[in-house]
Amino acid sequence: MHGVWPLTAERGDDGEVSIGGVAVGELARAHGTPLWVVDEHDLRERCRQYREGFAGVDVAYASKAWCTVGLLQLVDEEGLLIDVASGGELHTALVAGVDPANVIFHGNNKSVAELARAVEVGVGRIVVDSFDELERVEAVAAEQGRRAAIWLRVTPGIDAHTHEYVRTGHDDSKFGFTLSLGLAEQAAVRAHELAHVDLLGLHAHIGSQIFGTDPFVANAEVMLELLARLRDEHGIALGELNLGGGMGIRYTHEDHPVEVARYGKAVLEAVDETCARLGLERPRLSVEPGRAIVGPSTVTVYEVGTIKRLPGLRTYVSVDGGMSDNIRPALYEAEHEVALASRGEEADREPMTVVGKHCESGDLVREHAPLPGDLRPGDLIVVAATGAYNDAMASNYNRLPRPGAVLVRDGRVRELVRRETMDDLVRRDVPLRSSRPG
Ligand code: LLP
Repeated sequence: MHGVWPLTAERGDDGEVSIGGVAVGELARAHGTPLWVVDEHDLRERCRQYREGFAGVDVAYASKAWCTVGLLQLVDEEGLLIDVASGGELHTALVAGVDPANVIFHGNNKSVAELARAVEVGVGRIVVDSFDELERVEAVAAEQGRRAAIWLRVTPGIDAHTHEYVRTGHDDSKFGFTLSLGLAEQAAVRAHELAHVDLLGLHAHIGSQIFGTDPFVANAEVMLELLARLRDEHGIALGELNLGGGMGIRYTHEDHPVEVARYGKAVLEAVDETCARLGLERPRLSVEPGRAIVGPSTVTVYEVGTIKRLPGLRTYVSVDGGMSDNIRPALYEAEHEVALASRGEEADREPMTVVGKHCESGDLVREHAPLPGDLRPGDLIVVAATGAYNDAMASNYNRLPRPGAVLVRDGRVRELVRRETMDDLVRRDVPLRSSRPG
């Protein structure tokens, strides 16, 4: 099938889709729906493509895209570092057995407790996001009698053309030290004065779901110029530069992201040219893709329930999940390709509106999904590229248990995330009186 689908997804002679050599119907029967099916081959292949495309560069997986113990173990096995953005993600990485030295810690408002744990376990790099945080890191490290290895997060003033909610590199942003206001330089000077902080480099992430190479090249150039300025005007020589994540992926057949090899080549060529122009040695580089590693590997399997045909208006197809397992269509008007998976298509396709089961009209899975006219309750459909920012942003809205996830490869199925039970849903609730058993 390929295109938007995981690498091993294929349609058998009977029309049923299988992934990793396992038919979706079999997975649905054994594990229930909705279900995230992760193609292990696809996921490992994308890790390898990044390591090859960015040879000589550290590749960190931005675990915010999907942070589970098993996934982090797999990505760690592939030689990627792990970027975490909260104490919870850090904890998950530690439980997964990731070497703390391979962890990069982000966040615009890390708490003192989060910073203390990071310093205590010896996280590889803490990416300091603000002046307040710089002082907090210094205080935490001083109290523990340790030194903290840090980068500064810079807001480079690059306006990537992507959804407003996933842009981060422009000046008016809550993230980082604004370059154009001179804040990045001030922060570097201040960090340099601190006794328990080792300022090793800079970081800049310009946004997400970006398709061309130009914004990434511009980011590299701007950041290298800053490195040169810090060296020339402040005598601060920094040897590390992280250029963030953000390369887009295919959610629909209309998306055309740049291949990793070309992306890597464009960035590394720009880095080398700019370094030569500025008389800089190439810093130790890193990138931190999230979506591009895990997004395309995964499909969500839903079962079709109610089909409501409104002649002259539209056909609504309701599935057994929705905005609680994939908030992206509601939040970003994101579009994910949809296909009938449990059998072949016997009727012509018609545009259908696939919706979830939540009590909300905005609970959309896909508008204008081309599905066969004979679609019926009990059919299974798959939604493409749901590995990134689906489970990671899932909720229990309407008290829906969150789906499970399985890893499939060569006919073998391994559970990655356990499906929530009804009891899980009330686990945090504190009753005010004893309730009748029922
Ligand atoms: N590094 C930093 C500092 C980031 O903030 C992010 C994403 C990444 C790396 C990874 O970006 P990626 O390669 O995955 O695009 N929930 C949104 C995406 C939010 C991205 C937040 N930061 C979505 O579903 O599209």
